[in-house]
Amino acid sequence: MNSELQSLIDKLALNNNLARGEFLALLSGRDEAAAQYLFERARAAQQAIYGNDIYMRGLIELSNYCKNDCYYCGIRNSNHEAERYRLQPEEILACCEHGYAWGFRTFVLQGGEDAYFSESRVTELIRAIKAKHADCAVTLSLGERSRACYSAWRQAGADRYLLRHETANAGHYASLHPPGLSLDKRLRCLADLKELGYQVGCGFMVGSPYQTREHLVDDLLFIKEFAPQMVGIGPFIPHHQTPFADQPAGGLELTLFLLGIIRLLLPRVLLPATTALATIDPRGRERGILAGANVVMPNLSPAEVRGKYLLYDNKICSGAEAAECRLDLARRLENIGYKLAVSRGDYQYS
Ligand code: 5AD
Repeated sequence: MNSELQSLIDKLALNNNLARGEFLALLSGRDEAAAQYLFERARAAQQAIYGNDIYMRGLIELSNYCKNDCYYCGIRNSNHEAERYRLQPEEILACCEHGYAWGFRTFVLQGGEDAYFSESRVTELIRAIKAKHADCAVTLSLGERSRACYSAWRQAGADRYLLRHETANAGHYASLHPPGLSLDKRLRCLADLKELGYQVGCGFMVGSPYQTREHLVDDLLFIKEFAPQMVGIGPFIPHHQTPFADQPAGGLELTLFLLGIIRLLLPRVLLPATTALATIDPRGRERGILAGANVVMPNLSPAEVRGKYLLYDNKICSGAEAAECRLDLARRLENIGYKLAVSRGDYQYS
């Protein structure tokens, strides 16, 4: 292997950080041998903290209504072809019930920015889930809300919040989102969530339109500084009814490489092998884990709505990412030396 790349990876593993120019050199010079070396070091870092455990989160997609119009997203407000749905509280509780029986101890309530899921409705929902499943973590992924709203949900018992920063470069942010949405607002939300005591997840798409290597380094430096408990990354995949319909998808190889880097940047981070990664490669989930990821998020939504929560084209919604196939998933992970843990899978602070 190129010795400069090897020493950059060694330095990253040792210091859990690199300078901007070093990240750029690592990303620009990377090759297959460097990737294999990075992944080995990333797996060692992960195993030192979490052993062979892979944590699972049951994803419940509670609404695909969204007031926003992000250029990349299939459930953007101006996609009039999207078939909209909302789950009722009883349906959401039934998802949790099934999920609990299958061994899930974290439920992720994700949705578009839908005013129907108001502060009070979600508060009631969190309370109801916690009343039935006191041993489970509740993660929210409901977009940008007021600090007061985040605070009320935290008081009601929500443990974690996922809000990808999407890109840490303000100019790039503006090329992915319509006017009115800004990186400043996004970062304000992330800071609020952290101050309110949530375990927080940020993240970005790999290969989103107009993304440069410098932007990726901005993301890595931001992630290091923000020090989230979770980081969600996956390849950009175009959706045919969006302004980015004709843009190329992000690459598998670059996504895996970035997972390896992020594991070494924040050794304790909870890092999912995402559905988008599994969508662009049939072994995407396993490959993500072998690159340093340690979380999977199977879909617990009712089967009737799964085909409607379409952020991008060809999203997989049957097979190993479906929660009822968790035995299959467990077998696949065992084949690569890991085991699915029946646990909340909280961030290990020390
Ligand atoms: N391709 C990949 N990921 C996408 N997301 C939204 N649209 C797409 C797409 N076309 C991601 C965004 C968002 C998360 C819920 O899904 O990063 O934060």
